Amino acid sequence: MRTLRALVAAALLCLVPAVSAHAAADLTYDFENGTTQGWGPRGGGVSATVTPDAAHGGASSLLTTGRTATWHGASIAAPFVRGAGYTVTAYARLVSGQPAATIALTVQRTPTGGSTTYERVAAATVTDGGWTRLSGNYLFTAESTDVQLYAESSDATGQFYLDDIVVTPLGDPTREPVSSDFEDGTAQDWASRAAATLQPSAEAAHAGSRSLAVSGRSATWDGPALNVLGRMAEGDKYALSVWVRLGPEATAGRLGLSIERRTGGTPSYERVVSPKDVPAGEWVQLSGTYTLAYDVDFLSVYVESDTGTFPFYLDDFSMKYIQPKPIQTDIPALKDKVPFVMGSALTRPDALGVHGELLARHFSGVTPGNELKWDATEPREGEFTFADGDFLVDFATRHGMTIRGHTLAWHSQTPDWVFQNADKELLLKRLETHVRTLVTRYKGKIAAWDVVNEVVDENQPDGLRRSKWYEIAGLDFIRTAFRVAHEADPDAKLFINDYNTEFPRKREALYALVKRLKEEGVPIDGVGHQLHLNIEHPPASSVEATIERFATLGVDQQITELDVSIYTDFVSSYDTIPPELLVQQGHRYKELFDVFRRQAAKLSSVTVWGESDDVSWLRSWPIPRLNAPLLFDDDLQAKPAYWGVVDPSRLAPPVRRLEAPAGTPKVDGKRDLEWDLLPDSPIARVGDVSAGFQARSSGKGLYVLAEVTDPTAGKDDRVTFTVDGTPYVVKRTGGPKAAVRPTPTGYRVEALIATGSDADVTAGGSMAATDIDVEVTVSDSAGASTSWTGKVTTAPAIKLTSAAHRTPVLDGAVDRAWSAAPEIRTATWIQGTSGATAKVRSLWSGSTLYVLAQVTDPTLSEESPNPWEQDSVEIFVDPGNGKTKGYEDDDGQYRISFSGRITVGGTFDAGGVKDHVKAVTRTVPGGYVVEAAIELPTITLAPGTLLGFDAQVNDATGTTRTSAVTWNDTTARSHLDTSHWGVLRLTRG
Ligand code: XIL
Repeated sequence: MRTLRALVAAALLCLVPAVSAHAAADLTYDFENGTTQGWGPRGGGVSATVTPDAAHGGASSLLTTGRTATWHGASIAAPFVRGAGYTVTAYARLVSGQPAATIALTVQRTPTGGSTTYERVAAATVTDGGWTRLSGNYLFTAESTDVQLYAESSDATGQFYLDDIVVTPLGDPTREPVSSDFEDGTAQDWASRAAATLQPSAEAAHAGSRSLAVSGRSATWDGPALNVLGRMAEGDKYALSVWVRLGPEATAGRLGLSIERRTGGTPSYERVVSPKDVPAGEWVQLSGTYTLAYDVDFLSVYVESDTGTFPFYLDDFSMKYIQPKPIQTDIPALKDKVPFVMGSALTRPDALGVHGELLARHFSGVTPGNELKWDATEPREGEFTFADGDFLVDFATRHGMTIRGHTLAWHSQTPDWVFQNADKELLLKRLETHVRTLVTRYKGKIAAWDVVNEVVDENQPDGLRRSKWYEIAGLDFIRTAFRVAHEADPDAKLFINDYNTEFPRKREALYALVKRLKEEGVPIDGVGHQLHLNIEHPPASSVEATIERFATLGVDQQITELDVSIYTDFVSSYDTIPPELLVQQGHRYKELFDVFRRQAAKLSSVTVWGESDDVSWLRSWPIPRLNAPLLFDDDLQAKPAYWGVVDPSRLAPPVRRLEAPAGTPKVDGKRDLEWDLLPDSPIARVGDVSAGFQARSSGKGLYVLAEVTDPTAGKDDRVTFTVDGTPYVVKRTGGPKAAVRPTPTGYRVEALIATGSDADVTAGGSMAATDIDVEVTVSDSAGASTSWTGKVTTAPAIKLTSAAHRTPVLDGAVDRAWSAAPEIRTATWIQGTSGATAKVRSLWSGSTLYVLAQVTDPTLSEESPNPWEQDSVEIFVDPGNGKTKGYEDDDGQYRISFSGRITVGGTFDAGGVKDHVKAVTRTVPGGYVVEAAIELPTITLAPGTLLGFDAQVNDATGTTRTSAVTWNDTTARSHLDTSHWGVLRLTRG
């Protein structure tokens, strides 16, 4: 025992440096052992000696004498390790009789290739009356030689004692927070990027009483910057935040937060927060996260504007390391649970740290998200950059992952030079060079290429997108890209990739194109379905229909960019995501992967567009918002969506919702018009069974409809409706109060099910507004079963009107043709309770729908810059009566102001509808008349066709809207959601 202790003591002694070690790594210079412990004089004629004349602790200190310049003093080779930060503390006292002076601790160093710099660490006024503590932090980052720590005095000849100098390493500087509050009246290391002036200011403050005023900017990017080199580590993620406010003369402006990084002298710029509106007089927070994905020798964070050089204030900056949660290692790897390559898109930061670990664990394939696009690989003609592409290809190769190359020819993320002064020949030459260079470089490494991306536009007569590629080179750009890619790597699988292929019109346009190109001999191996879906729409069955359709062409297929947005429109945004939405998303992923597994023979890979929610492109597109479309959450933990793929039994039961509008369909097994007012809610396929389901509420109970797809009849085929806990079984062979009829692919069930007690029935004989728990289970004799579980809510009846078959003259006059059409009135107030209203009629002929609105509105205004706040009529038309949450691309909101100004809303860019309306208006005593003609080219109009339809009148007074009224939709969401519009039926008369 004794021997052991002696050994330990001896070992410790060996570690003890010339100075004594207090805590693990503190260095203390206490001058108690009779030596200067490495300190020496600085400057000619100066001496530094140990003396017993004064001591802060113990019995001696270090005395400096013989100084003749302020920079003279005592110094030591600084015990700093590059990349680390230190707190330096010391005690100083003047020799008796000396006047008070400022004693400073300073670091002198010579950066590699630069000139000597002096950085003050700590300073204080010191007297001969006692010991004064000096303390400050120092971060040693840039490579330097001759690094010295020294003490100097503002009194050139002053003599002083130093004692108990302690150098304490700070934590890892890449883990320490960085902050600036400007309260000390300095710029706190912020520096101008160019000509801008930075001035600590008391004119404005976010917190405390000071901020940093920035003025005299010479460019949008000129302004305050903070050097953060050494404060971020490669692969680590940081939260950055700063507050900004416009300067005194500025009235409007947008500011953002960016990073400049350099490697080997080449600068790159990245946005942490895209410039956003800073209203005059308000402090606005810019906050975001940044992952350092490069080895850098320069790193700076700065504030910039998108336009203008206006002055602004900056305050309360902070940058904090985000400690990643470890990835879960006790859950199955996705790639082991699916019968195809399981891929993820990735960008460079995703290959590092925990993100890289998650990728390696779960995915067997990757697609570089941006790094192989044209703007990344050939930003200037003939100048190819592959650093990022190579990095990701190497990462994937090291981990044995297959790689999809994305993408060779696209209309987006393609530099302007490609099309500049290009005739067809030159453009195809540029394309050929580009394709050959990329495919050759990654020959044998990249297994599949998206040769062309998004070339289909189903709204064009020939189904082809009017891109610059197409406008200059027609279909030949596609032919050339495939030919050259095939020549460069005959083993690579060549894909045509597109979005919305699950929608029938786009599906057919792409199908026709692929068929044509294949017949010509273009070397297309496969079709890529991007599958950017949302939480509601479209159903998994339409994805399955698409896969089955393309299988008839004998091409390979891949799912290339799967994600499931939690939003159904382009404007909504949650602050926190309701947990039940994530459960719903889990079930949605389950249904999709049921399809992929069933169709695995036709699919060679399924790729999600991003590994985890924190890196999803849907955080910034189409607007910056909290979205969570993927399988892993922001902390890289498995979401319900993951369990939907891997083990759906782990999912909480879904709580779906369905409205049961008031209605009394006949229970006879025939499908009444009443049922056609709404689409059937899908019950996703399991085995060979699937179904569509609807309900109507009435005083007699709940009417239910199930359209069952089950191709082989068996004696145990049945539908079980469980209403408020009571099961109600209808066999394929029939049941009481139910009607069953065969259909071409299965059978239809209609039934009337009594619900609850009489209390459910209102005096008017309809069902009171209530939620009813319903489960519909469809089972077949082979043992397959699928169900819908959720709450059915009673709702008002859906209004139905009709359009007569006539052609009016479009002139704003009410000609006789209109008298054939029934008249409806807007009486559903969505804002206010009175105001302008309209009588509306519709006619149709050919592919045109005509709408007449006679508006009562005595005072008319178009003063507001917002068209919905002007006196106007809105007509809503959904050609498929799809009643989708969110718009499909042929759904339109056509707004016509009293003076005939037209604005059109639809999906993101309203591309499918915006040029489809003409209107003539006329003011008349007490109001105005709108006569509109709307082209509906995506369907064939015929007697019996049902259109989703609504009308709205906006009433303006001056610049504000004072009321708004619709025909059917009570939700005030007609502009975002088609599901509550009424129905217009075309008639022969
Ligand atoms: C997206 C990337 O994920 C984003 O980082 C980038 O800013 C825009 O492009 N369809 C495609 C992909 O084919 O290339 C797109 O990727 C998403 C839509």
